[in-house]
Amino acid sequence: MSSDHSNLTLAAEMIDDAQSIVILTGAGVSAESGLATFRDPEEGHWSKYDPMELATVHAFNKDPELVTRWYHWRFTRARNVEPNPGHYAIGALQKHKSNADQALTLITQNVDGLHQRGGASDVVELHGTIHTWRCTKTGKQRPLTELSFDTFPIPSDDGGLMRPCIVWFGESLPEDALQRSFQAMAECDLFISIGTSGTVEPAASFILAAKENGAKTIEINRDPTPNTGIVDVALQGASGVILPQILTEIGIEYPTP
Ligand code: OAD
Repeated sequence: MSSDHSNLTLAAEMIDDAQSIVILTGAGVSAESGLATFRDPEEGHWSKYDPMELATVHAFNKDPELVTRWYHWRFTRARNVEPNPGHYAIGALQKHKSNADQALTLITQNVDGLHQRGGASDVVELHGTIHTWRCTKTGKQRPLTELSFDTFPIPSDDGGLMRPCIVWFGESLPEDALQRSFQAMAECDLFISIGTSGTVEPAASFILAAKENGAKTIEINRDPTPNTGIVDVALQGASGVILPQILTEIGIEYPTP
């Protein structure tokens, strides 16, 4: 048996045995759906664009048209792709654990909404969501589908501009999402990091916090990350391949469209 296979079996056993799991995901879980990650040297958003020109309040104030067009493009991309087997596997695992009266808190840095479309029912969106926008003046939120994109930037009804409800560099994370994350990390006995480079705080430190609280740790990622050397089990590869294999190993069947 190859060491990759025995690591997969070990990960499956750890997941099956755990009473309280935290899964943290990043852009890598949506890569197989066709959405670009951020730090891929060829295709990543940040290899093509400067985040300071697109993902800060300063950038929005300086060029709201450019920033609005970029996020509208990303929203359109997210809406036009489908969840992949990794999303479905996570959704099915969350249901399985819930049916067994066990906990699985899914925390994502992604703003694309694909976990929910892949069957996850309760998702902590640490960096917000691209599907809801809010007025810069009043904070009033509206689903993006209700907005008209005849002009860029998009004027709000209250004399401001509409901006995505996502967290830009330099902004605070949503308080409730942070609180839920820290509570879940304090209570979990297994922490799984999937498809994230582990470079953006505070999410990058979650794995350490969970480890210090005594949780076991697993990483599933295409490439090595700063966390690869500190986890109990590191599985290198595509999450849309590895996660379904783990569910098969545990014996969880689930329909994928
Ligand atoms: P990154 O682009 O930094 O990292 C994506 C990770 O996914 C990399 O380590 C890849 O190796 C891995 N990966 C790629 N394809 C994969 C696959 N099919 N299966 C498994 N892993 C795969 O994206 P994030 O870690 O999500 O924030 O980035 C964190 C934050 O930085 C984002 O939320 C965003 C960004 O700037 C903001 O915009 C505020």
